Amino acid sequence: MALWGGRFSRETDQVVRRFTESISYDQRLYAHDIRGSQAHVKMLAAAGIIPAADAAAITAELEVIRGRIDRGEFEFKTELEDIHMNIESALIAALGPAGARVHTGRSRNDQVATDERLYLRAEADAMTDAIRDLQRALVGLGSRHAEVVMPGFTHLQHAQPVLFAHHLLAYVEMLGRDAGRLADCRRRLNWLPLGAGAIAGCTLPLDRELVARELEFDGVLANSMDAVADRDYSVEFLAALAIIAMHTSRLGEDLVLWCSQEFAFIELDDAFCTGSSLMPQKKNPDVAELVRGKTGRVYGHLMAMLTLLKGLPLTYNRDLQEDKEGLFDAIDTVKLILAALAPMLDGAKPREERMAAMAADPALMATDLAEWLVRQGVPFRDAHHQVGRFVALCRERQVPLDQAPLELMQTVMPAATAECLQLFDPRRSVAARDLIGGTAPAQVNRQLAAWRERLQMNA
Ligand code: ARG
Repeated sequence: MALWGGRFSRETDQVVRRFTESISYDQRLYAHDIRGSQAHVKMLAAAGIIPAADAAAITAELEVIRGRIDRGEFEFKTELEDIHMNIESALIAALGPAGARVHTGRSRNDQVATDERLYLRAEADAMTDAIRDLQRALVGLGSRHAEVVMPGFTHLQHAQPVLFAHHLLAYVEMLGRDAGRLADCRRRLNWLPLGAGAIAGCTLPLDRELVARELEFDGVLANSMDAVADRDYSVEFLAALAIIAMHTSRLGEDLVLWCSQEFAFIELDDAFCTGSSLMPQKKNPDVAELVRGKTGRVYGHLMAMLTLLKGLPLTYNRDLQEDKEGLFDAIDTVKLILAALAPMLDGAKPREERMAAMAADPALMATDLAEWLVRQGVPFRDAHHQVGRFVALCRERQVPLDQAPLELMQTVMPAATAECLQLFDPRRSVAARDLIGGTAPAQVNRQLAAWRERLQMNA
């Protein structure tokens, strides 16, 4: 008979058990459920609601149960629906009446919301660590190849020379904001639902502040109906994960491109690539592809959560049980993405000569030429037009920009001098962008050093 079976005269139908159970996946919450129950009974005893001896017995037995679950020796039962009732029923089986006091002044509605908040708090910390590891891998790769120049792209067309490290640091910045989003989310979710009961609070003199302190929450939720009804913390968490996955997907795409024969910018370690079952010569960047590919399911889980919540009347509805699997999968997926990318970057080898050769195309320095003209007093729009005509002229004559005779240059750029010919050097071009956020080695090295310091990478 279920723990709620008092008013029922028939056993639950088999298909209903399978349909309503969550134990197959919410068992993941067990450590948080146990911790919440221990704080709860401590408070119940302190408030004189249950005998101190019962609270002590419950706390000790919960440790036994924790050990059994840790070791895989606990038998989860589908007929007990979820993690809350599996643990409560084990307590009652072991302790009798003392165990039957654990659920005093509590509902599974405030219990599950508490478990989830504790769980997400821990996952926010673990995810932040994983983000830091990936940032370290990017900063490490950039630092080892701080001199390497490559073509930067807009519209996937060669745009201007940039430092390879500058490109990598762009992702480090994105991931830094991702960690910030998790921290924001963590701050907002760290409030205690317990005490809300099923919906309206409790007639017993619960000390919610004590439980909040015990569980290291920043305080208690002010409205019992909000406490059991909302899952905005999961939406926020999923949104933060979706953004991380979006960023890592772009990094994955860059890596896929860079490994191609067309780009040939980097070589990935064999341990992070796979072969073809048919074509013997292939070395495919499957990890980078899957980093990109797995992003879809993370987005999907965010959309599923929003959809789950949108039409629900206050307060708790069983629909809310559907909040877990997608959330768990999104967390597992993003952790795996971060864990795969970091060592893959550690072993990646940029093909410096190839990148440098691509960056040496004088056309990439056309902007430098226009800005040189600006320095001679030519209005930018005119300078842009003059250089554009020069580019067209060179194409017509099939001569590279840096090999056109000065006289030809001067036909469309009257202000041009011999100095212009020195502009077609990618290293000079990069070094000239020496302002905050620019790709000059002085700037990039400062950023690399600042991140190494922030990420505690300095030996
Ligand atoms: N397994 C349930 C969930 O995840 C726990 C809360 C059940 N509450 C209830 N009134 N049936 O939402």
